[in-house]
Order: sequence, then structure tokens, then C-alpha cells
Amino acid sequence: MIHPFRMRLLPAFLLLGLGVTATAAELPAGDADRGRTKAYTCRGCHGIPGYRNVYPHYHVPLIAGQNEAYLAQALLSYREGRRRHPTMRAQGLTLSDQDIADIAAFLARAGERP
Ligand code: HEC
Repeated sequence: MIHPFRMRLLPAFLLLGLGVTATAAELPAGDADRGRTKAYTCRGCHGIPGYRNVYPHYHVPLIAGQNEAYLAQALLSYREGRRRHPTMRAQGLTLSDQDIADIAAFLARAGERP
């Protein structure tokens, strides 16, 4: 028989699990065309090929052409504070699950463009 104390704790554990362990695999399907529009503000810093980087001497990681799940996981991590870089945390906090999925889908394909 399950002790009543454990039964009361169970929903709390389930909620905690949902909040803390969000992974790229749980995101909705991404749409690269929507992602192109949503990634507009990212270009200034990340210099996606074909776009001018407005900060030529500002070091940022290359994100165009990266693995889609990796990109989505990175953005989730910034949003949830598991990655602490302040600039990217601020970016992540503006993004919904759907935004992250769309942007990751777009960026993963962006490296293939001429
Ligand atoms: C103001 C400049 C700036 C803007 C705007 C910006 N980023 Fe970043 N981004 C950075 C910097 C700096 C880092 C490195 C942060 C770190 O060391 O964790 C980074 C890191 C990342 C990473 C992690 C890359 C890796 O390989 O670990 C991803 C993914 C990313 N950005 C995506 C985006 C997306 C998507 C947007 C638009 C919604 C965006 N960034 C907008 C500056 C920016």
C-alpha cells in the first residue's frame, strides 16, 4: 500500500519534472520559414552567412548550420537559466516553445544556403 504522504508528494514531483527537464524532443515541430522571420534579431550578433554582421569584432558562436536539436536545447537552457550568459538569457526569455522549434529548424538549414 502506498503511504498517503507519498501520494501527496507525487503530483509535486511530476510538476517539478516538467519544469526542470524540458528537452528539445518535447518541443512542437519547427517550421523553418516561420523561423527565418523569428531569427531576424539574431542576425546582428551571430552573422548568419549572407547577412552582414554588425559587430565584426564581437565574438559570438556560429549557429547557422548547427544541429537542430542542439540549437533548440541551447535556447531552452538559456531560457530556463541552465546556461547563464546574460545576453542570451534575455533572448531566450522572449521565446516560446514554438519560437525555439521554428528558429532551430531555420538555423539548422541556414548553413546550406549560398
Ligand atoms: C546581442 C548579441 C546576441 C543576440 C542578439 C543573439 N545572440 Fe545568441 N549568443 C550571443 C553570445 C555572446 C553567445 C555566447 C553565449 C555563451 O557563452 O553562453 C550566444 C550564444 C548562442 C547560442 C549557443 C551556441 C552554442 O554553440 O553554444 C545559440 C543557440 C544562440 N546564441 C542563438 C541565438 C538566437 C536564436 C538568437 C535570436 C533569437 C540570438 N542568439 C541572439 C549573442 C547574441
